[in-house]
Amino acid sequence: MTTVTTDGVRSADATHKGGVAFGYCVSHAPQIFTQPKEEDPAELARMHDGYRAVARSVKEHNVDALIIVALDHLHNHFLNLVPQFTIFTGNPVVAQFNRRRIELNGSPELANSLMDGLLDRGFDPAFSQNEVLDHSFLVPLNFMVEEGLEAPVIPLIINAYVPPQPSIRRCNDLGKAIASWAEASGKRVGMVSTGGMSHYPGTDRFAEPDVAADHRVLGWLEAGETEKLVSMSAADLDAIGMVELRTWAVSLGARGDRVQVERHSYWDSGHCGYAVIEF
Ligand SMILES: [Fe+2]
Repeated sequence: MTTVTTDGVRSADATHKGGVAFGYCVSHAPQIFTQPKEEDPAELARMHDGYRAVARSVKEHNVDALIIVALDHLHNHFLNLVPQFTIFTGNPVVAQFNRRRIELNGSPELANSLMDGLLDRGFDPAFSQNEVLDHSFLVPLNFMVEEGLEAPVIPLIINAYVPPQPSIRRCNDLGKAIASWAEASGKRVGMVSTGGMSHYPGTDRFAEPDVAADHRVLGWLEAGETEKLVSMSAADLDAIGMVELRTWAVSLGARGDRVQVERHSYWDSGHCGYAVIEF
């Protein structure tokens, strides 16, 4: 069950089991894992600690599962079929990148319950039991595993890259439906979204992330103005290199309309804005 505090922020507390106990949004750039010498080790360590904080929250809040919302960089979903939303319902959950492969406990029971819950709430996600998740999952999960992540993981894959993508508002509404399912089912989950911030992979703007836009968006989230982010059009998101922030909108929606960021870290790596926010 969810409580709503006086400022309207939604939270699951210790006396009511079901709901969304916490939310994080984090970047997942491959360099955060490969740690090339060109990147500041202190800033990379700060990112790693942000990932580890997610694992610590999982333990602290004793959640039934961690829902990790990320995407697919054309490894699994491309010319054959591109679902807008995909829930991985199999077990184990496998992620692989750069010769690192991790296997985690999935929860087919919870993932299928989530499927049913979303179907009941006007969403028709695809589901999959057989895909190897890419670096958008592996980079954060690698450090969560090192920190002792034990709860089952439910991957949710958003179509961030192949047009036409879902609107960021639709992603935000999906998060709200996830929260509604958690509350109704009595399941206690944590949310972590991975993506962004501004970057232009594979383009001539690779070395020119829109840092001003990063600060603008972080300012909105710190002020509880999620609506300004979810009001953006697909073209607006693309222009500022934030197509991946569709994943962020899911966790923000799951934590409530007036979610307010409690803390964040940010660094302009020169090719991508690296961020961790907790709410
Ligand atoms: Fe990415």
